[in-house]
Amino acid sequence: MKQLQCNTILVIVSAILLGTPVTAQVKNAFQYEIQKSVQATKGAVVSAHPLASHAGISVLKKGGNAMDAAIATQLALAVVYPGAGNIGGGGFLVAQMNGGKRIALDYREKAPSKASRDMYLDSTGKPRFELSQSGHLASGVPGTVAGLFAAHAYAKLPFKDLIQPAIELAEKGFVITQHEADGLNSTKTAFLKNNTRPTAFVKEKPWKAGDTLVQSELAGTLKRIRDNGVRGFYEGETAKLIVEEMQRGGGLITREDLRQYKAVAREPMAFPYKDFTIISMPLPSSGGIIIQQMLKMVQKRDLSSLGFQTPASVQLIVEAERRAYADRAEFMGDPDFVKVPVKTIVSDSYIQQRMADYRQDTAGSSAVTKAGVVPHESEQTTHLSVADRWGNVVSVTTTLNGGYGSRTVVGGAGFLMNNEMDDFSVKPGVPNMYGAIGNEANAIAPGKRMLSSMTPTIVLKEGKPFFVVGTPGGTTIPTSVFQALVNVIDFNMGTEKAINSAKFHHQWLPDEIMVEPDFPETVREALRKMGYKITVRGFIGRTEAILLKPDRKGGFTLDAVGDKRGDDHAEGY
Ligand code: DON
Repeated sequence: MKQLQCNTILVIVSAILLGTPVTAQVKNAFQYEIQKSVQATKGAVVSAHPLASHAGISVLKKGGNAMDAAIATQLALAVVYPGAGNIGGGGFLVAQMNGGKRIALDYREKAPSKASRDMYLDSTGKPRFELSQSGHLASGVPGTVAGLFAAHAYAKLPFKDLIQPAIELAEKGFVITQHEADGLNSTKTAFLKNNTRPTAFVKEKPWKAGDTLVQSELAGTLKRIRDNGVRGFYEGETAKLIVEEMQRGGGLITREDLRQYKAVAREPMAFPYKDFTIISMPLPSSGGIIIQQMLKMVQKRDLSSLGFQTPASVQLIVEAERRAYADRAEFMGDPDFVKVPVKTIVSDSYIQQRMADYRQDTAGSSAVTKAGVVPHESEQTTHLSVADRWGNVVSVTTTLNGGYGSRTVVGGAGFLMNNEMDDFSVKPGVPNMYGAIGNEANAIAPGKRMLSSMTPTIVLKEGKPFFVVGTPGGTTIPTSVFQALVNVIDFNMGTEKAINSAKFHHQWLPDEIMVEPDFPETVREALRKMGYKITVRGFIGRTEAILLKPDRKGGFTLDAVGDKRGDDHAEGY
């Protein structure tokens, strides 16, 4: 599998009524510290960047609800975390509002109307990944701004108040972290190759921690959105600049593609696991289906009795992952374009049959385990989660796909476009940048949404919000969410341990268990003896989570934690 480039971020915002103040770790855009965890009672936001978490908190303090905070945090991320935070990408939002209304918003990018099935194949049928992964042709029609306005229907404050922190961060600038400096420096060559107009992300000398990044053109775009609403992006000056940029670099997105883009409200995927209800994203994300399949596959065998990261529990999780990812490759795609047998592949009988050949202590084989047999059936980086004092919880994952997306900045508009087209199956059976294999169900078609792995998730206990979780990481996203869920539910861990413990990942193909460097050597050895191939890789995901614990006064204590793996920051009050 190629090197993963995380460009998806997670933000979690949570707020509830009673509680003690927590010292702010952010003074201003030039003075801030990363805070990994916070215990709060009125509200908490966890995201990939301190200034973005802070923007969410400031909105909660002004009387906004979780949805307001989620919107403000996403917009701030589009400025302070340009590698993944975005307005030129897309995402998914899962929420439960006070009163029980459940929401799944799909603002995934769409293939442009001029896109075609074999558009990334050369004359010999060989995939040209340089085109699906970088530059103008790699971009789908962006969905984020439409999604933010669709989400605003559930918010309390005017949109102009939610976008103001982002405008100020873009206009006045902010100091960058070492991680950001490293990201910008390593992308300089690609920025220079893909852009004919000067961009804020390139300067002569290398970036270093403490430098100030000012994005005046982006501030202009954000002001057009503030003043003209959703049309400030999809029509008028911004649309004109996007189309001109596409024309300069051979991209396909037209004014009509932009004008027609709509966010879609989907039916959230909701299912029981033990005493909990899991709510997650349905298609066009594979995430909700995959975690449902995997949790059902392990449920009967009781993970907790096997023990945390024992060879037996790791093996069971791996074999569940193998089977679910095989189904992803075969069946899943945009439900508006292809029939996906969702009901069947999450049904108890199908799950039972999928695990029938599971043999404890013996490695399975992806050459033998293909996708399941499905009879004819009649009949989705950055993550953000929010909960507020009124019991609203919001979980959002949004992405440009690869780090800094297509590395193409819209000239005059100052924002990066996505390279989400690579999430389609460029050629059936040929892996994409995350090693994911797809089939006809995920082939490119005009107006179609590319299959995603993003898994914004909420867990309820007795109907009340209990856990808000999500992560970037391409195909490793459902695995990270699955492992965070079983760590909390089956292994009874607190938030920090649940998300910072070593992770491992299997995705059917390649047939190997990928492990983080701190995954225990003794367990690796035991798994090798069972017949598994073990590959050590870099960090898996950056999970942001909030655990809500009921207090004696009818409120909650919020245990909010930002992943140890990046600049992630938990803020609360
Ligand atoms: O939608 C997806 O599944 C991918 N485009 C997500 C990419 C991602 O998480 C990158 N971060 N590591």
